[in-house]
Amino acid sequence: MTEQRILHGADMLTERGRAEWDAAGVQVSALVDNPYKKDFPLLATKPSLAFLDSAATAQRPAVVLDAQRNFYESMNANALRGLYKLSVEATEAINASRAHVARFLGLTDADARDIIFCRNASEALNIVASSYGGSVLAAGDEVCITIMEHHSNLIPWQQVCERAGAKLVYMYVGEDGVLTEEEMRAKIGPKTKVVSAAHVSNVLGVENDIKLLASIAHEFGAVMVVDGAQSVPHLQVNVRDLDVDFFAFSAHKAFGPLGIGVLWGRHELLEAMPPFLTGGEMIDSVTEQAAVWAPTPEKFEAGTQDAAGIFALDAALTYMEGVGYEAIQMRESALVHTCMHRLADLDFVRIIGPADPALHHGVISFNVCGIHPHDVSSILDMDNVAIRAGHHCAQPLLAHLGIESCCRASLAFYNDSADIDKLISGLQHVWSMFHGD
Ligand code: ALA
Repeated sequence: MTEQRILHGADMLTERGRAEWDAAGVQVSALVDNPYKKDFPLLATKPSLAFLDSAATAQRPAVVLDAQRNFYESMNANALRGLYKLSVEATEAINASRAHVARFLGLTDADARDIIFCRNASEALNIVASSYGGSVLAAGDEVCITIMEHHSNLIPWQQVCERAGAKLVYMYVGEDGVLTEEEMRAKIGPKTKVVSAAHVSNVLGVENDIKLLASIAHEFGAVMVVDGAQSVPHLQVNVRDLDVDFFAFSAHKAFGPLGIGVLWGRHELLEAMPPFLTGGEMIDSVTEQAAVWAPTPEKFEAGTQDAAGIFALDAALTYMEGVGYEAIQMRESALVHTCMHRLADLDFVRIIGPADPALHHGVISFNVCGIHPHDVSSILDMDNVAIRAGHHCAQPLLAHLGIESCCRASLAFYNDSADIDKLISGLQHVWSMFHGD
């Protein structure tokens, strides 16, 4: 696919997109007010910063920072190991957070045993590829992923396929960056053992139809794995409703601490899988030559857990639930519409991905004609505008799009119209530095 075919200019914004933007007029005016920034100490103390890189890592509200500090100040002990009060309290904090994550994903407290804490979504996906893929894949089998996968949901499958002699099959996106049912049905078939897909692309911002992918995967007896790193901050997830088999996300993109990842898996699949890491606390018993694994989740949680981080994730979920997905989506939709239309009015900017703002979930990638994304990002930084530039850990997608790198502005509900104003004036500054006024 050539660059020309995938990039959209102002004239290519759809009529629907324009109409929705006009209809969103009231919400757009509400973007001047920002009731959320004060909750985020970093944003509140840096009022001149336009932070537009939440897809890389989000900022954390004070309640999350307080929770982490509170853990160390009032309940720090090695959870699961001690029989004294402090250790029991730390253990209870982990258990409460585990149950909260289960409810957050549309499950019940009883399903908390199927919530595994690890370091990040990458590690969660490595657990699935290595422990599930490693035990079921054989020569001739196929693993089917989308071309828009982050390397975290691509390299683990490359590795396990290579070891098993299985084939990694790609589902490609069309010119609009959207994966069609026709393409899914063309690639998923009797040889497919695993289908794995991003819920939302970290470059295109599009949401994949996970329910449809899961139903096609299940038609052929394959399991459905979802990388939810970019969806959880924007979309309410119910893993039962999506009817998937594994779901992974990172706390740090969902306003929680760095270093905590979540993997949910169907109980019977987790029970049948071997552990990913081995060591302390993941066993029932050990002899000189052998070990018997503990049940899930402990089987997948070797070593001392980051209990403070897990406790802080609980606080992050409570904060998100307080804001509510309805408010998050309404505000983000107005932000994305505004940002895309203002970018499209700059004739030197080319937006990457769907022309319709309604299809972008917090993420808008673009390029500035003839100027390298790293230069764009560095000059924007001089104006205190933080965006990400590069290949976004999605090199096969960028190759498919005919580009090597791009700029990406990623938004969260704590952004406002001043952040977008700064991005637009910053881009005008970038252009004038290269081309004069
Ligand atoms: N996965 C993160 C991103 O897309 C780091 O920026």
